[in-house]
Amino acid sequence: MCRLLLSVLVLAHLGHATTTNRDTMMDMICNKLGLTFYTPAELTVIAKCIEPQAYKTPNNNTAILSTGKNCVINNSGNKAISAMSLYSNANSCLNPDSLDTVVTALVPPIQNLTIALVKKVKNTLSECKNTNKQAAAAKQETCLQKVYGVAKAAITLTYVDNVCKKVVNQHVSKAWWSCGTTLIPKVLTFSKYNCSKIVKS
Ligand SMILES: *[C@@H]1O[C@H](CO)[C@@H](O)[C@H](O)[C@H]1NC(C)=O
Ligand SMILES: *[C@@H]1O[C@H](CO)[C@@H](O)[C@H](O)[C@H]1NC(C)=O
Ligand SMILES: *[C@@H]1O[C@H](CO)[C@@H](O)[C@H](O)[C@H]1NC(C)=O
Ligand SMILES: *[C@@H]1O[C@H](CO)[C@@H](O)[C@H](O)[C@H]1NC(C)=O
Repeated sequence: MCRLLLSVLVLAHLGHATTTNRDTMMDMICNKLGLTFYTPAELTVIAKCIEPQAYKTPNNNTAILSTGKNCVINNSGNKAISAMSLYSNANSCLNPDSLDTVVTALVPPIQNLTIALVKKVKNTLSECKNTNKQAAAAKQETCLQKVYGVAKAAITLTYVDNVCKKVVNQHVSKAWWSCGTTLIPKVLTFSKYNCSKIVKS
């Protein structure tokens, strides 16, 4: 009995050791938050590509967004064509605006609405950068894992839904929303969110 319990604990521990906060986060984004366009494994590749920039300049949205865009383009593999076609559909739908201008316009209000979480993430990162004594690569990984730990605890479906509702109600025009309700379901299960039911008049 005791031995059985021990081996269960050892197995549980081993399972735990190989599942990082990053893995849990990517799994959560697909399976709880409803992202369908990428698998967790594909998201992990994209996240790992963005991480060095986010780690280096956590306060520079321009730099993070620009790296993020290149990471998505560079790492979409067999989805590159459908990603590019979505991107160009979004741009023609949003014309005279573009996906870039819309994303750039929505980042500050989203950051504002998520200020408590953003602060917590930035504090977690800066404290880890100031105190962790590992070599650079190990230190970056440890600190990012801490950040993912904070993020995965805070980001629930309802959390995202509430932010979405506020952003759409206050910062999204009727024309933008008409594109959003057409294009968002191509990348995630938008019906999971009450936000998807907003009607702009
Ligand atoms: C932020 O990053 C952009 C793009 O890399 C760079 O041009 C800009 O100077 C940076 N801003 C600050 C305040 O460092
Ligand atoms: C994307 O790929 C290009 C071309 O291979 C490369 O120059 C660039 O550094 C890559 N960007 C990122 C963020 O990985
Ligand atoms: C952030 O929120 C404050 C207070 O709610 C508001 O006054 C300010 O305009 C907001 N800024 C942005 C960029 O949405
Ligand atoms: C949507 O609204 C219903 C009714 O208020 C609520 O029970 C549900 O939790 C909401 N959905 C999300 C994702 O928060």
